[in-house]
Amino acid sequence: MSPLPALYLDDLPGGPPPGTLLAVIADLPAHGGKDISFREDQFLVRVFVQKVGDVIGVYENRCPHAGTPLNLFDDRFMDLTGAHLICRTHGARFRIEDGYCTLGPCKGQSLRPVAHEIRDGGVYTV
Ligand code: FES
Repeated sequence: MSPLPALYLDDLPGGPPPGTLLAVIADLPAHGGKDISFREDQFLVRVFVQKVGDVIGVYENRCPHAGTPLNLFDDRFMDLTGAHLICRTHGARFRIEDGYCTLGPCKGQSLRPVAHEIRDGGVYTV
């Protein structure tokens, strides 16, 4: 369980309403990642879904170190070992289960989890 409270996306300017489909699990690519953005006027909300085995992580796409998106330019969020999420800016590593940073400049901090539910083969905002 993440040490940070879950982020409800409809609380954010530009965030989607509850019940918004973030990802169809069967449609995720083999590497399991999906970068998702919601934009409304000047507001931008960035999140991602990452599936590793039976674990599905849904987090705000914002590194606690310097605030950049973890992936920068594609849907890949895992390090080369496939064991940890990685921030491509300075290489911080995070656990997929709870977003906790185990290595790097933000060690001991965490990604912000996104409140969601999994039903009917999809990942939805709540
Ligand atoms: S911005 Fe992510 S490790 Fe520095």
